[in-house]
Amino acid sequence: MRLLFVGDIVGRSGRTALIHRLPALRARWRLDFVVVNGENAAGGFGITETICEEVLAAGADAITLGNHAFDQREALVFIERQPRLIRPANYPSGTPGRGANVFEAANGARVLVINLLGRVFMDALDDPFQRIEQELGACPLGVGCDAAIVDFHAEATSEKMAYGHSFDGQVSLVVGTHTHCPSADHQVLPGGTAFQSDAGMCGDYDSVIGMAKEGAASRFWRKMPGERLAPADGEVTVCGTFVETDDATGLARRIEPIRQGGRLSQAMPKV
Ligand SMILES: [Fe+2]
Ligand SMILES: [Fe+2]
Repeated sequence: MRLLFVGDIVGRSGRTALIHRLPALRARWRLDFVVVNGENAAGGFGITETICEEVLAAGADAITLGNHAFDQREALVFIERQPRLIRPANYPSGTPGRGANVFEAANGARVLVINLLGRVFMDALDDPFQRIEQELGACPLGVGCDAAIVDFHAEATSEKMAYGHSFDGQVSLVVGTHTHCPSADHQVLPGGTAFQSDAGMCGDYDSVIGMAKEGAASRFWRKMPGERLAPADGEVTVCGTFVETDDATGLARRIEPIRQGGRLSQAMPKV
């Protein structure tokens, strides 16, 4: 199977670019399944139902979230009727929505998508290591699903690498999100799980992690309230990762980073 994971969409510029480019990428690479992180899609903070529908209509099969999952409070309501929107699985029990789901891909295969939050330099939450074991126990790769994609939304690279190694051989892909900066450590781990500690973002990199640089930078050196943070609106780099899996095992054959458009050096998979 051919899978695409796209990092955090930031604001209007990020989502407009992705919605515009995704149909062509999907066709060109003959993608079977696409996951997009949408936690910053609405003005940098959360996601609305309208935006969620637009991203799905552009060719995403599932949308994952992160620490900004419920910044738009309407998400607390519409997530219950939108099975393709996945919030972190290690939120407290009783949180609306679901932390994992199985979807049918374009080729008929079953794809498990799980979203978890890390705990290093993040809010205290349930243990993401224990939490995913429940999901994988209920839906093992090769038995309950043909591919498994894990979005581990976390700050610390160490925690992300530890996570990848801990579940190496049990899932197709462990990809990090949240830092908005694409890492260059993409690899197929020894057990067959594709890994990249951060997918990067869909946003303007002439910014501070996607937000307009003047307001965002002054927060680090002034102790006065400044301008409201707003997404940068220049040319967008669509960042993500491309993974090809083995149909027999569901494990990864290769992983390649994607950086398309905007200011970052360009990277596209050879398909
Ligand atoms: Fe983010
Ligand atoms: Fe985040």
